[in-house]
Amino acid sequence: MSQTPVARLYVDTKRAIGEISPLLFSGFAEHMGRCIYEGIHDPASRHADENGLRVDVLAALRELNYRAMRYPGGNFVSGYRWEDGIGPKDQRPRRREMAWQSVETNQFGTDEFIRFCREIGTAPMLAVNLGTGTIQDAANLVEYCNARPGSHYADMRAANGHEEPYGVKYWCLGNEMDGPWQIGHLQAAEYGTKAREAAKLMRLHDAAIKLVLCGSSSSKMATYPEWDRISLELCWDLVNYHSMHYYADNLEDDTASYLALSAAFEDYVDTVAAVLRYVKAKTRSKHDVYLSWDEWNVWYKTRDLSDMRGGWTEAPHLIEEVYNLEDALVVAQWLNVFLRKADVLKIACIAQIVNVIAPILTTTDSLLKQTIYYPLLMFSQMASGNSLDLLVESPRYDTKKFGDMPLLDVSAAYDAETGNNTIFIVNRSQTERVPLEIHWQDIAPKRISSAHQLAGRDPKAANTWENPNQFTAQAIYAPRIINGKAELSLPPLSFTSLGVDV
Ligand code: AHR
Repeated sequence: MSQTPVARLYVDTKRAIGEISPLLFSGFAEHMGRCIYEGIHDPASRHADENGLRVDVLAALRELNYRAMRYPGGNFVSGYRWEDGIGPKDQRPRRREMAWQSVETNQFGTDEFIRFCREIGTAPMLAVNLGTGTIQDAANLVEYCNARPGSHYADMRAANGHEEPYGVKYWCLGNEMDGPWQIGHLQAAEYGTKAREAAKLMRLHDAAIKLVLCGSSSSKMATYPEWDRISLELCWDLVNYHSMHYYADNLEDDTASYLALSAAFEDYVDTVAAVLRYVKAKTRSKHDVYLSWDEWNVWYKTRDLSDMRGGWTEAPHLIEEVYNLEDALVVAQWLNVFLRKADVLKIACIAQIVNVIAPILTTTDSLLKQTIYYPLLMFSQMASGNSLDLLVESPRYDTKKFGDMPLLDVSAAYDAETGNNTIFIVNRSQTERVPLEIHWQDIAPKRISSAHQLAGRDPKAANTWENPNQFTAQAIYAPRIINGKAELSLPPLSFTSLGVDV
């Protein structure tokens, strides 16, 4: 029987790609299905606190350590009247919400969201409505959130019990405005002009805010990447980030290709990063704009229209995707890509955080951590400092979609302040263990202090309510470092994280 050749990984802590922005570990909460209502906010649950927030959900979100939270949409935001969601709750209107054909009770709005962010220690990232909303509405919301009392909207916030400004720093200029499905969809130049004027007004209220321009809503759009060029050319000096969105799928049930999707993710980043460079040069600007991948996840099992229409009910069950092992391995390599592209990519928000295509599912009284919860946890707890440009020698395999690909997908970080080197490795093989040697080239690390692994035999297996802990981040034996080298054997269909004391 032939054995899989040895893979070798060469680590040099001086070969830095870029500083890992903590905002790469951010989330997205939309008024959609049961994300907000019944997910985050569920007064009917025995786990609800005095504000109706689910304490069990808050605990899991805190564990994931989300650094920023994008809200309130998504497609929802393009029809949202933010003033519906503030003030006395019994006076807030019930509205037909058009994006997901649901009934929006407005019992959770901007003030409740800020409270929620404070509970989990995350920075709010608010999206403004550039669909049905005006540039004035967008500016008013900035005033409501960030101005000192003494003017109409700031006084309104104070009257609602919040004297101190919220100081919301991150703002998205609409959502997926290139998509014909978007409420108030615009052509690229129309959007660029509206976004530019909104940005101008929003900045007049608060010059310190950071703005995210809507990029293409996926690399599969017919207008990609022209949309990105046109909108950026119109807004370059006024914005700080440009968004990317992408949902991965295995519709063809081709696991070998699915597990090689990092090739598509990298290509997408490289293309939009090239557009950034082009526009910076063309506009003769010294200003920099970075990428914000503010919707990303696996989503394909619940893509029928019936999964996305709420029948004008409150908190309908919409797109409650169940994640299996292969999905978790795609999520893990997506996070690897975030580290490998840390020089241009500064924000990433997993879509979404509870129930709706989410790492966490809830019933009224219980909570389930899905497979994808664990790679998020491993990265958000461990990756910091600079990401490293690794030299990886890996056995390869053949895929229908991406041709010849390495069996291992790897990223690493080195934090000079804490002296921690972290390494993240996906073994894409469905059948083979891969023996791995890790060589440290410029340092002689003391030891591997933590080693965790998510692994299984069946790519389609998932955590279920009956068997909730089939997949977790299991502690594994931490290999010893001898003469600057460690050896381990990576099981098929696995994701491993190592923490190394330097
Ligand atoms: O996350 C679900 C939806 O996907 C969002 O509302 C939209 O922005 C995207 O198309």
